[in-house]
Amino acid sequence: MTNLIKLNLARNCLKYIIKAYGIKEIFIPYYICPVIWISARQANCKVKFYHIDKNFMPTKDFPQNSYILYINYYGLCSENCNLLSKKYKNIIIDNSQSFYSKPQGLASFNSLRKFFAVQNGAYLFTNKIVDIPLTPDNLNLQPQIFHKNTEEFIKNELTLNKENSIKTISQTVEKSMDNINFEADINQRLQLYEKYDRIFHKYNKINLKASKSNIPYCYPLNPSTEDLGKSLAEKFILLRLWKDLPKSFCENEYFNSIIALPLNDLQYAQNIINYFK
Ligand SMILES: Cc1ncc(COP(=O)(O)O)c(C=O)c1O
Repeated sequence: MTNLIKLNLARNCLKYIIKAYGIKEIFIPYYICPVIWISARQANCKVKFYHIDKNFMPTKDFPQNSYILYINYYGLCSENCNLLSKKYKNIIIDNSQSFYSKPQGLASFNSLRKFFAVQNGAYLFTNKIVDIPLTPDNLNLQPQIFHKNTEEFIKNELTLNKENSIKTISQTVEKSMDNINFEADINQRLQLYEKYDRIFHKYNKINLKASKSNIPYCYPLNPSTEDLGKSLAEKFILLRLWKDLPKSFCENEYFNSIIALPLNDLQYAQNIINYFK
């Protein structure tokens, strides 16, 4: 039976899974937010890195029983998650960018602030529970949107980077989640994605489709022309996911410094769309 455990951060969900299953070694993609592999190491788990191809699939097979972390990139790689879950029994799905995906694999988890205006929080879905004492998260941060208040957003992230302990979700966050209109959020995300795609599809080296089973975190844009990248950067404040992949990596051409066009702020998204249409 899959249990839902509400914790403070996605990275700490991974630590919980490592403890629960006694994982000594895990495969993690190079293309990932570094806090994830840092957390695995903090939990005394050896990290082995793997490459992904331009379809976001691992470039090599893994030994059958290995523990593998796979990311549902931008919330748009559900089909890859399905294929890998069928192939590997010990797959762990990182749905931090895919709040609406169903529990899958050995365990899966998401990250609430990537989708909603909450300070932190994460839902872990796991078949195995471990008996460790957990204190409730009592942080008190004002949720921030990157493009609205970059400095405060970064300050929050730095504060969260110090939250190394697995804690249960803060009560405030839990309450806020009860007041979210998920259907409206899904509709906004799908509609904005489609509008962005009409404009940017022909210049985008990434070609992923949003749908009811792929509710996106952002519109990922890797511009095929330097000019487009420049004019976006001059006019708008936009998150980049993730930077500084070495040039020699196969991921470099497709994934280095992807521009994440936002779907959580209708007005800002509309400004971007109006500027380019
Ligand atoms: C794919 C992915 N997984 C995990 C994390 C970490 O999430 P949290 O900050 O909730 O620990 C991030 C953070 O940016 C992420 O993008």
